[in-house]
Amino acid sequence: MAPSLDHINIRVYDNTSPPQEEDDENVAIHEGTLTIKPVFQSGKSSFGAEIYGVDWDQAIPPEIVAQLVAIQDKYGVLIFRKTGLDNARHIAFSQQLGDELEINPFFYGRENDRLKEPLLFDVGNIELDGSLVKRDSRRWHHSLGNALWHTDSSYHQQRSKYSILLSHGNPVEGGSWTHFADIRRGYEELPESKKAEIEDLVIEHDLWHSRKLASPAVFGNPLPHELKAKPPAFHRLVQVAPDGRKTLYLAAHAKRVLGMSFEESQKLIWELIDHCTQPKYVFSMEWRQGGDMVWWDNRQSMHRANPYAEPMTARDVRRSTILDDGPLAFGASKDEKLAAGWLPSA
Ligand SMILES: [Fe+2]
Repeated sequence: MAPSLDHINIRVYDNTSPPQEEDDENVAIHEGTLTIKPVFQSGKSSFGAEIYGVDWDQAIPPEIVAQLVAIQDKYGVLIFRKTGLDNARHIAFSQQLGDELEINPFFYGRENDRLKEPLLFDVGNIELDGSLVKRDSRRWHHSLGNALWHTDSSYHQQRSKYSILLSHGNPVEGGSWTHFADIRRGYEELPESKKAEIEDLVIEHDLWHSRKLASPAVFGNPLPHELKAKPPAFHRLVQVAPDGRKTLYLAAHAKRVLGMSFEESQKLIWELIDHCTQPKYVFSMEWRQGGDMVWWDNRQSMHRANPYAEPMTARDVRRSTILDDGPLAFGASKDEKLAAGWLPSA
């Protein structure tokens, strides 16, 4: 079954941040010095929240960090407006959330990177010389995969728990959005027979699989140094999310279910991604101004960007990624892989 590449098109979902009704004060929750405005809720499940009351001019006190992590565990995606953070403070806050940050591989040379900061990923559309990414350049095609539903870095054997994306500069003309799906609710509302069928599956994740899906002409055959830099990784499909509920660890990077053929694997993987990204589980975060920041948990959500388009205006967004240090950080063990039908290469 062909994957759902219609998701690559620009669209905005009904649930949004900020909410369309400006009079949302009645839904605000006050917790100490912080104010939480949930983005959307269904029954007992809350997903996404705008957070106010963090003093970004100072180092964040440890007790506020702990409070934010507890809020993050519940909502999965936290949005902060007009933070005023620069690269150094963006990195410093990220380092308060975990021992290590992911290192940028600089596929096309650190000297060609606008930020040249190994702890940040330049995921905007601006080149070193200030021009916008050229249509049909390798960077353009690489970014197309970001418009497919995914979690960041599931193709690493030590995966990443959080991503923090910060906007600099002017907003994009015509608006820009990042979209988030609540995989915990997606899992919860699967038929019980499907839950039983997938309980013990192990998935092979490969960055080059999602690049190929989004851009077969350019990434049908990745370059040798690209393949070497990012070999595949293996993670269990059904996991327990930080809030204690079951979830699916899924992404467009998911290439193969161990023990199944490639075709069977893709059919099941995209059936599950399509299920979990129905509009009823999704909201769109609007980027309103420089300083806006979103912090999401890759272990209990999926996200996607809007793809590059023509014409487009400059978009300067930078991402830090915090490595997982929890019990599932290193994915499936060799024994789990063998039990799931893994055939180790000689
Ligand atoms: Fe991403």
